[in-house]
Amino acid sequence: MRDDTRKRATRWIATAGAALVATTVAGATGLQAQEGDAAVTFNRDVMPILQTNCQECHQEGSIAPMSLLTYRDTYRWASRIREKVTERVMPPWHIDRTVGIQEFKNDRGLTDEEIETIVAWIDGGRVEGAPADLPPPAEFPDPNAWRLADEYGEPDLVVASEPYTLAAETQDKWWRPVTPTGLTEPRWVKAIEIKPAGNDARTITHHVLAFLEQDEEDSPMAASIVQASTRGGAMGGGGLFMEWAVGKEGEVFPDGAGKIMLPNSRIRWEVHLHAMGKEVVDSYVELGVWFYPKGQEPDNRTRLMFFNATGATGLDIPPNQIAVTQDHHVLRWPARLENFQPHMHMRGKAMSLEAIYPDGRKELISQVDNFQWNWHVNYIYEDDAAPLLPAGTTLVITAWHDNTAENPNNPDPEQWVDWGDRTVDEMAHLWVDVTYLDQTEFEELVAAREAARELAEAEESSSSSNDENP
Ligand code: HEC
Repeated sequence: MRDDTRKRATRWIATAGAALVATTVAGATGLQAQEGDAAVTFNRDVMPILQTNCQECHQEGSIAPMSLLTYRDTYRWASRIREKVTERVMPPWHIDRTVGIQEFKNDRGLTDEEIETIVAWIDGGRVEGAPADLPPPAEFPDPNAWRLADEYGEPDLVVASEPYTLAAETQDKWWRPVTPTGLTEPRWVKAIEIKPAGNDARTITHHVLAFLEQDEEDSPMAASIVQASTRGGAMGGGGLFMEWAVGKEGEVFPDGAGKIMLPNSRIRWEVHLHAMGKEVVDSYVELGVWFYPKGQEPDNRTRLMFFNATGATGLDIPPNQIAVTQDHHVLRWPARLENFQPHMHMRGKAMSLEAIYPDGRKELISQVDNFQWNWHVNYIYEDDAAPLLPAGTTLVITAWHDNTAENPNNPDPEQWVDWGDRTVDEMAHLWVDVTYLDQTEFEELVAAREAARELAEAEESSSSSNDENP
């Protein structure tokens, strides 16, 4: 929430900046805007954007290759910045802004106005501006502290991976140790968080996946898991437990929903490492887990679902072509989808999720139109925007792979590409945390949301009729 307010404040400033650009450009045909304060300046217009959207990664000791903390740093990198922000590669937020749900808990994308402001600053001669306009340095959370500790205290359980060492210069590595959780009794999970720890781990840890491995069929909990999980649906392992990339806060499950961890469970890590020009010795990753109090069992189990987009035909991507595959999945129970996380490799271009309601109505839920294989961004819906779907809804998942020379990430457009684990092979699926709901709860949630929407509309129309010029 705090971040949200900051973000809105920054947006407002950036919009004001863009308005100034427009005035300047309009004035350019006649008399040039002479006053220095009519131009876009670094201190007033650009710095707030960098603080909110870039600096957490672009500072000493973090994952990005260069710092963007000062005017000097940013000045030097201006042309690369222009390229990366207009291509919407940086910041790593690759959702299509023109369609689908746009309310996300972890939104770090730039608005069109913010991009225009950065471009106008660069094209307008990279003016520094008045020292008084420079906002105070942004404060970043202590990277070694649990983000959720403010609200929930220290985690109830911490699982640390085996340490790893990475050479100063080497290709990207994937570190996959397995660590026992040490749990001796089943526990319901309210919140989880991952963070790199140990020597300089933050500089090389690109992103982390933690899979929960456990035997659910033979568990003494089997009966209650079945009840709370997919309302009688498939059992099986815990699946992907959590994903992490820089800037990610923990994940907190809504009241009444959670994940289950069983005795003798294990975490299978997949840590994507990226060398940063300095050997890093003995760094590791930690998973923090906060439990529901014993005896307080949530009614709904949140499960990470793997929705395939490859269909019956599988993946078969010819050289120099764009391939499209599609698959679908029918929801057997009412559900709330908590997030949207496409997974593809180097030829991945776009992926979308569409809902076909039982009455035939169609809605595009989300679409990533600028997929970047080395950024596995998890788009987490705001609580009041997470799609609520009735039983019988068909989810349609579509994937596009670009195996042409037009794709800057394509290592070789002459190759015929198949499904596989290596990044030069392909995949196409969507990870979605699905919370199944019972019918009454579903109807209550839909009604509450409808009421909130009507209220907001009523407030909006009364405020716009009272005040034409806010
Ligand atoms: C989540 C972390 C993160 C955020 C946020 C982020 N970057 Fe980056 N940036 C990186 C990393 C890591 C790289 C190195 C290339 C890669 O891994 O994609 C990079 C690369 C770049 C590059 C290319 C550098 C080169 O070597 O050519 C530019 C330019 C850039 N970022 C600008 C920005 C700007 C501007 C913002 C904010 C508007 C931003 N980045 C936000 C992590 C981030």
